[in-house]
Amino acid sequence: MLKYLKALIFILKRYYFSTLIRRFDKRSDAVERKSQMSKCGYEIFDMHDLFCNVSAVKSALGKVDKQTSHSGVSMSWDLPEIFWEQVLKSEKLKDKVIEYLGDTARLDDAYLKTINDGVSSVSEGWHNDNVGYRLKLFIVFNTEGKAAPTLLLPRSRPNLYNFDIIRDTSRVIFRKSDVNDKTGQVSVSYQSGTCLMFDTNLEHRGGYSESDGIRHCVVLEFMCRKKARRITGFSPCGPRQGNGAILIRAAEDTVFRSPLIDKEILNTDELGSFKYGFPEVSSVS
Ligand SMILES: [Fe+2]
Repeated sequence: MLKYLKALIFILKRYYFSTLIRRFDKRSDAVERKSQMSKCGYEIFDMHDLFCNVSAVKSALGKVDKQTSHSGVSMSWDLPEIFWEQVLKSEKLKDKVIEYLGDTARLDDAYLKTINDGVSSVSEGWHNDNVGYRLKLFIVFNTEGKAAPTLLLPRSRPNLYNFDIIRDTSRVIFRKSDVNDKTGQVSVSYQSGTCLMFDTNLEHRGGYSESDGIRHCVVLEFMCRKKARRITGFSPCGPRQGNGAILIRAAEDTVFRSPLIDKEILNTDELGSFKYGFPEVSSVS
């Protein structure tokens, strides 16, 4: 009985927020610049396309990497300074994000994630992330064995968000996943250095049970800052997955010059470190 009540609340919330998400995304459709991403919603490239010192970035990330937990997934927001500096200074990254999402795009979250394939997750079934247009960038800096692929169903813009009531209710509430092959699906496999950027409004899934390797990656998420402010708490978005603030280890000049940093959620703590997200502390602006 409780499960059915949960399902009802889930459905009502999803319908309310879907109208909000579509309204913001129509504005994004109006300002997007045509690119490879707008044709199919994803792009694969190499870490060398983003960073000028890939070996230093890989080495620094490897030092903070954690072994997978019993759940098969571990996450850390403790990212090294060299990584932050190169991400925030990357012109290519900035251009790709703004081309697709428009000038109001912001860095929404950044974390290190180690995924042990074979893990049981609702993300294994086909889904979108229920946030509308939002870019996710997987920077795979290391792999062990044959890491599981990400499967995508490419779509061109416009591709406005729709809530699939039957599929999403059974996946999230009743844990029943659709893992059947779909016509036109693309399977992206990973090696050390592979970067996958995709719109999480595309139908996608993780092929976790299809191999037994490990994927060590950093995940960066980008979305329209106005939309993010409205839907954080409901949808899986916002710094620290909407549950707090993350530490940005970069020089003040680098942080303030980056157009992808949302200054409204940027604060300093008592040591002068940059905290990005909530709860707010003393403002630096
Ligand atoms: Fe997802």
